[in-house]
Amino acid sequence: MTRAIVVDQVVKQFTLRHTWSIKEYVVWNLTGRGGELKDTFLALDDVSLTVEQGESVGLLGRNGSGKSTLLKLISGVLRPDRGQVGVRGRVAGLIEVGAGFHPDLTGRENIYLNGSILGMTERDITARLDEIIAFSEIEGRFIDSEVKFYSSGMFLRLAFSVAAHSHPDVFLIDEILAVGDEPFQHKCLERIAELRKEGQTLVIVTHDLNLVSQVAERGIVLAGGKTVFDGPIEGAVGRLRGEG
Ligand SMILES: Nc1ncnc2c1ncn2[C@@H]1O[C@H](COP(=O)(O)OP(=O)(O)O)[C@@H](O)[C@H]1O
Ligand SMILES: [Mg+2]
Repeated sequence: MTRAIVVDQVVKQFTLRHTWSIKEYVVWNLTGRGGELKDTFLALDDVSLTVEQGESVGLLGRNGSGKSTLLKLISGVLRPDRGQVGVRGRVAGLIEVGAGFHPDLTGRENIYLNGSILGMTERDITARLDEIIAFSEIEGRFIDSEVKFYSSGMFLRLAFSVAAHSHPDVFLIDEILAVGDEPFQHKCLERIAELRKEGQTLVIVTHDLNLVSQVAERGIVLAGGKTVFDGPIEGAVGRLRGEG
């Protein structure tokens, strides 16, 4: 088996920006509590996992448990404070709606921008352009208007379409599928199933436990920045439903 993603003893810490009231500031000064003004917070606390090529993993956990932070580390948007993250091949991440798009460019221009960020050549993009636009269901008059006029649903459709046609080795999807309507979600699921057949590695974050049961065979549950479950998706879903 070939490892697609290796996360080894990763720690990610954020500095919480605290806005001080005058009262707090004065008290802090008078009491002479020197030292740190800033609070640090461990978003990921010693997380290790390995994903094999072709595996499809659901990353689950309550809000604030560290799921998006982990995806950002895997996609390279963030760097770990400690530990190592390794990914084999090209990564496509649908992590934040609208990320990787320029508001003043048209939908069509953004396909080129986004596609090149995902490692496609201009020729690749031109060859797949019609397919990308058709899948996104963005109508003719909108594909040539600036994306700042797009709704979040339109962004999602275009972003998903470009990513799904870029044939990445590792596909990361954060909660954003929820932005799409039901028919489009269904279409995304079908496309994900096709990509899985092609042997693509997938890590998906969603609160939709039915959806994740359909697309993932393995589930990893995070709680407070730690891995609390890693095993069959049924077990992970059971744990989130409070059965285990
Ligand atoms: N850029 C940031 N600066 C400070 N804190 C952050 C930042 N990003 C995330 N956090 C905090 O890290 C924790 C984990 O966040 P996140 O990974 O987004 O969780 P999840 O996606 O599971 O809801 C949360 O408590 C969140 O507030
Ligand atoms: Mg999140």
